[in-house]
Amino acid sequence: MADAGIILELERLSAGYTEEPVVVDFSIAVPGESITTIIGANGAGKSTLLRAIYGLNRHFGGSVRFLGQPIETLLPKDRLKLGIGFVPQGRCNFPLMSVRENLELGAYTLRGAAAADAIERVLAQFPLLAAKLPVLAGNLSGGEQQILEIAMVLEAGPKLLLLDEPSLGLSPGNQDQIFATIAELRGRGLTVLVVEQNAHGALQISDTGIVMELGRLFMTGPAAEVIADPRIKVAYLGGKAN
Ligand SMILES: Nc1ncnc2c1ncn2[C@@H]1O[C@H](COP(=O)(O)OP(=O)(O)O)[C@@H](O)[C@H]1O
Ligand SMILES: [Mg+2]
Repeated sequence: MADAGIILELERLSAGYTEEPVVVDFSIAVPGESITTIIGANGAGKSTLLRAIYGLNRHFGGSVRFLGQPIETLLPKDRLKLGIGFVPQGRCNFPLMSVRENLELGAYTLRGAAAADAIERVLAQFPLLAAKLPVLAGNLSGGEQQILEIAMVLEAGPKLLLLDEPSLGLSPGNQDQIFATIAELRGRGLTVLVVEQNAHGALQISDTGIVMELGRLFMTGPAAEVIADPRIKVAYLGGKAN
């Protein structure tokens, strides 16, 4: 992990939907060029946390700082402009369009030459997409569909990528492909904050692990320590305490 300073800092962030906040008093500091995995039970508030960082949820209190700047009052499109990309849960929004058309849609915030450049850039980064430009996105493998979704967001050139359950529903081989892709993104200077149901697979490529329970931070530390923690092994990694 390169020491690139803190790129994202949450301080006592509370966020949710209607009356009561779902995410409560959440504080973390994410260093640049790192991978952080968030794990936790269904309904713990992981998706709500990612959505709140991107500005899609009601803000109840606390701060979100991106590269030192408070952004909690900004709209998602302005957070995107500053360099935050969000890939929501689920794959392949446009299965009946070709890979090329999907990539053209992904460049919707860019104009003319900038859009063409962004498409060229992600195609150079993901040769597997370059080889399948005319193919309907719905006919790609699950792993390739997820990589297409990531590529569409990368076209905007984010520095921080928020990924919600990228390996959900994929075969083990395709899950490995996604984790390898995420590790490669870090190698290119990106910072990744990922929510994952495959806790073990994701923590293995991560610098930091975060465990969320009932909307709160339960534990955080180096990923290797989170994997080795007996409580985490039993609750989230399908193992025994020893
Ligand atoms: N659109 C919504 N409106 C109201 N409550 C929601 C909405 N989406 C999620 N919630 C609630 O927020 C809590 C956390 O959900 P979520 O962030 O999706 O958890 P996770 O991603 O960890 O499974 C749940 O209790 C859920 O019912
Ligand atoms: Mg979720």
